[in-house]
Amino acid sequence: MLNCEVGMGKTFDIGLERLMGGSEFSIGSAINTIHRGRLKNEGSATFAGARAAASELDAIRGASRGTFFLETFGCQMNDHDSEKVAGVLLSRGYTQVESPESASLILYNTCSIREKAAQKVFSRLGEFGLTQNEGRIIGVLGCVAQQEGEEIFKRAPWVSLVCGSASYSKLPGLLAQVEAGNHRVTGLDTETDETFETEITRRDNPWRAYLTIIEGCDKACSYCVVPYTRGPERSRASDSILREVRQLAELGYSEVQLLGQTVNSYRDPTPRKMRFAELLLAVADAVGIRRVRFTTSHPSDFTQDIVDAIDSQPKLCNHVHLPAQSGSTRVLRAMQRTYSREEYLEKIQIIRGAKRAISITTDIIVGFPGEKDEDLAETLSLLDAVKYDNMFSFKYSPRPHTPSLAMSDLISEEEKSRRLALLQEKQREIQTARHLTMVGETFELLVSGKSRRENQWSGHTSCHRVINFSSQEQALLGKYVHVRVTGATPNSLVGEQAL
Ligand code: 5AD
Ligand code: SF4
Repeated sequence: MLNCEVGMGKTFDIGLERLMGGSEFSIGSAINTIHRGRLKNEGSATFAGARAAASELDAIRGASRGTFFLETFGCQMNDHDSEKVAGVLLSRGYTQVESPESASLILYNTCSIREKAAQKVFSRLGEFGLTQNEGRIIGVLGCVAQQEGEEIFKRAPWVSLVCGSASYSKLPGLLAQVEAGNHRVTGLDTETDETFETEITRRDNPWRAYLTIIEGCDKACSYCVVPYTRGPERSRASDSILREVRQLAELGYSEVQLLGQTVNSYRDPTPRKMRFAELLLAVADAVGIRRVRFTTSHPSDFTQDIVDAIDSQPKLCNHVHLPAQSGSTRVLRAMQRTYSREEYLEKIQIIRGAKRAISITTDIIVGFPGEKDEDLAETLSLLDAVKYDNMFSFKYSPRPHTPSLAMSDLISEEEKSRRLALLQEKQREIQTARHLTMVGETFELLVSGKSRRENQWSGHTSCHRVINFSSQEQALLGKYVHVRVTGATPNSLVGEQAL
């Protein structure tokens, strides 16, 4: 399961900037064109890689159709889906704009993992009542689209397109219908074995490329709406993944992040039948790739060969995001997580047995129906036992179409908040101690942000920590530098470039 919300702090870079109100660091963006086996890049002011000649991009673009604004909520998977949706629109002749007011087509790529996230899109849609949307086409994509379906037309009759992520491969046809003036266009089928691959992807980060290798989810966690909204698991062919990785490397991307709700459940649909660990090694073999990440791992499918691969190949980043959700076997059973506390801890032992230290991060839900004080105590003791490098914690939020909706013994909001505060306080202590041990250590960072403040930069380590650092050097974006940690708080690390 991918992370969508705020963790303990910004020390870890798991793609949270957007939800945290934007980072003070800025990066460029890039358009990657995968066309008849080639891939080019355009659009980044700071990116040193290849750029498609404008004429080449024009050749695959259709006639000019207007402007689009695309806002994304939720996890990295949504971020990357939006990069591909933007690619589809650019190839149809649309131009991307930064505000809904200047767009002829407004799209919201939505998240419904928790109630709060799902509400956001309706407040956005409310801003475009019947009067304000004069001449504009408005579409709702992603998980809320799938969850609410045609209900969205009733709540917001000014919406013309409702499309879930499992139907994105049909997007060009659906857009053609909307452009032809159809006001009720839907793509809501989840019974598909297709993955969403595009000729053009408009990537938001010019150094790190997201790559979805498995879509949907075949697990059935009782609190989770994702299997409903994203449909069954579909793995992308290994040869197609590896081709894209090589093309990305040629363009100058040095870090790739393989994505999936349960990324390590990857099952190669080709006769090659590559195992996930083999795929990791093959991706790392691409010339020019310096770092490979993957998220999110499901504990039940986490195997020794993944750690062996990390040990044997330094390009595989030393970070595993392994959501526990709870430390109590009783609650884990009710959550249908398919493992017990002990089995989860066995997976942690596999990771701790690695030759190089691997960061471990987690997701925890508090206040699941029926959770008792002793269950919470088990979760707190799990934090002590694992000593996570970071934690993303959530109050249980009842979701439509999920088995837990029917469960009794609900926990009040007030009590959930109390439990969340206890959990976060425990993690804060653990992180404070951990960070203090890092002062004086030197890490290699990929520099991905420049502050407005002079000589201040930020980048992330292989173990996925963000470090803000000072350097007298110029033009560091996209480069790898060594940084010595000089200071730490529970939620941040600062340093200076080690020369
Ligand atoms: N309520 C609260 N948290 C949830 N998550 C998933 N579904 C829910 C829910 N209904 C959390 C899980 C998951 C993370 C991305 O979101 O911890 O790993
Ligand atoms: Fe993750 Fe479970 Fe949801 Fe699948 S059902 S996305 S494994 S939390």
